[in-house]
Amino acid sequence: AVRRIPLVAGNWKMNFNHLEATYFVQKFAWLLRDARIDYRRCEVALMPSFTSIRSVQVLVEADDLPISYGAQSVSVTSQGAFTGDVSADMLAALGCSYVIVGHSERRKYHPEDDANIVDQVRAVLAAGMSPILCVGESYEERKQGIELDFAVGQVRDVTRDLSIEEASRLLVAYEPVWAIGTGMVATPQSAQDAAKAIRDDIRATFGGQTADNLRILYGGSVTSKNADQLIRQPDVDGFLVGGASLHAEELADIVAIV
Ligand code: G3P
Repeated sequence: AVRRIPLVAGNWKMNFNHLEATYFVQKFAWLLRDARIDYRRCEVALMPSFTSIRSVQVLVEADDLPISYGAQSVSVTSQGAFTGDVSADMLAALGCSYVIVGHSERRKYHPEDDANIVDQVRAVLAAGMSPILCVGESYEERKQGIELDFAVGQVRDVTRDLSIEEASRLLVAYEPVWAIGTGMVATPQSAQDAAKAIRDDIRATFGGQTADNLRILYGGSVTSKNADQLIRQPDVDGFLVGGASLHAEELADIVAIV
């Protein structure tokens, strides 16, 4: 069987200024060291606001911390007259490994449609980073029983024109919208069903090797209380953690479980 290194990524959303981020990283690094996490077994990433990325970078580099980091969104253009935008090259220059793309909050509060999300994925890949593509059904689709088709369709819409090489650098986060920030975590079985459906579809499009290496995260009300059952699922390769990632102890506990 293929061994995928699980990833626990903390999506801070619009929380923590750079001072708070600095405080968090120092405390978190200390907790991780204390917990004696085996980093060949599990990868840890933080996804701060743009304004805090530099502060995270400085701490990670100064102490060679075993923490990856990235951004929560990115511009689709590389440079120029785009007031307020941040380019993928700027993020790569800060040492970012990942960029979250297509989070449901971005799809909802910003004009991010599939075409825009495809362009973000391409921009991230072209800058040498890995996109974490977020997909997942709302309560409506779940009620209709079409959640698997919906999530698989979202992945397909964004990946259909990627090369195998590009697809091999992608991660997917299955985040059912009804589970985000609600405390209503998906059951381990439904997280597994969605992750497996996504992996099977990637297998059909890009082949066995890409599918076997693809890391599929679960996101939506993950805590140290439910992480254990979720990570036991064979197709769940880690978590995209929102609310619980704002507490250093809680995030370190989740990392220790994974
Ligand atoms: O990207 C992570 C996220 O949307 C889940 O948020 O607060 O339910 O863990 P939360």
